[in-house]
Amino acid sequence: MSETESLEQVAVIGAGTMGNGIAQVCAQSSLRVRVCDLSAAVLERAQKSVAASLDRIVAKGKLTAEQRDAALGRIAWGSSLEAAVEGADVVIEAVPERMELKVDTFRKVDAAAPKTALLGSNTSSLSITEIAASLGDPSRLVGMHFFNPVPVMDLLEVVRGVRTTDATVDRAVSFAKVIGKTSIVVRDVPGFATSRLGVALGAEAIRMLESGVASAEDIDRAMELGYRHPMGPLRLTDLVGLDVRLAILDHLHKELGEQFRAPPLLRQMVRAGKLGKKSGEGFYKWPDEKK
Ligand code: CAA
Repeated sequence: MSETESLEQVAVIGAGTMGNGIAQVCAQSSLRVRVCDLSAAVLERAQKSVAASLDRIVAKGKLTAEQRDAALGRIAWGSSLEAAVEGADVVIEAVPERMELKVDTFRKVDAAAPKTALLGSNTSSLSITEIAASLGDPSRLVGMHFFNPVPVMDLLEVVRGVRTTDATVDRAVSFAKVIGKTSIVVRDVPGFATSRLGVALGAEAIRMLESGVASAEDIDRAMELGYRHPMGPLRLTDLVGLDVRLAILDHLHKELGEQFRAPPLLRQMVRAGKLGKKSGEGFYKWPDEKK
């Protein structure tokens, strides 16, 4: 395999919910992974979360204890971005959804990672084309959008920026196969395919709750039992994070217009620190999750 095709050493920038899930699936697929995050607390939580998720898979009999230990052994955790990306074949950025942070991260990646590395951003709605403009060679950046919980969700949404080459897209599609995900390829439009549809449903459910159409439980049940969604849109907003959904809506409102205006209830809840599962409360209470 040539240098540009190798996909064995992965760097994940950011150890939050998505970053640690991405690291886990890579390690489960026999890839070596280095994860970096500036926060020691986030790194510590991430390690616990990966261990707990792997334990769960072992308990289901889908992984042996030896395979779990081997997967854990393939992940290295640290605070240095430069050390994480050194010699990497694939670099996946999973930092918070702020353009200036993504741009700054990729400037550092550009300076320290091999020029042959495939670069992916896990952004759920920001422009891949704009992020890529910060790179010496924008053709090697592609959107690699994962879904929460990463070990369970089958999709990888591959987003082609204006300057992303076919070779880069093909490499990302190959990477999806290596880690056991099914890919779709979409053009770089605000919210891509998944976030645009996902937040439209979520925002409408919040507006319905706001105007007293039904309780949160019944709005969720409507989609769970009436449409066979695995989880209703309000519970899903809790899982994803109300802050994450609000950021996507604000971005889509700016880019696509009125239909994506965020419901005032969502903004109020975020201001109140009700961020969903990760903060212990959103549309539901999550007493066991509060950190
Ligand atoms: N690690 C490992 N395995 C896990 C897991 C984790 N973190 N979470 C769940 N699982 C496994 C369970 O062990 C179980 O395995 P089996 O099928 O072998 O029994 C399976 O997943 C189902 O889990 P549960 O039985 O506990 O509960 P459930 O049936 O209610 O499923 C769920 C939970 C998978 C989260 C399901 O409700 C679901 O698919 N919800 C929708 C999730 C979704 O839409 N995610 C996308 C969000 S949008 C996004 O992420 C993108 C963005 O940009 C913001």
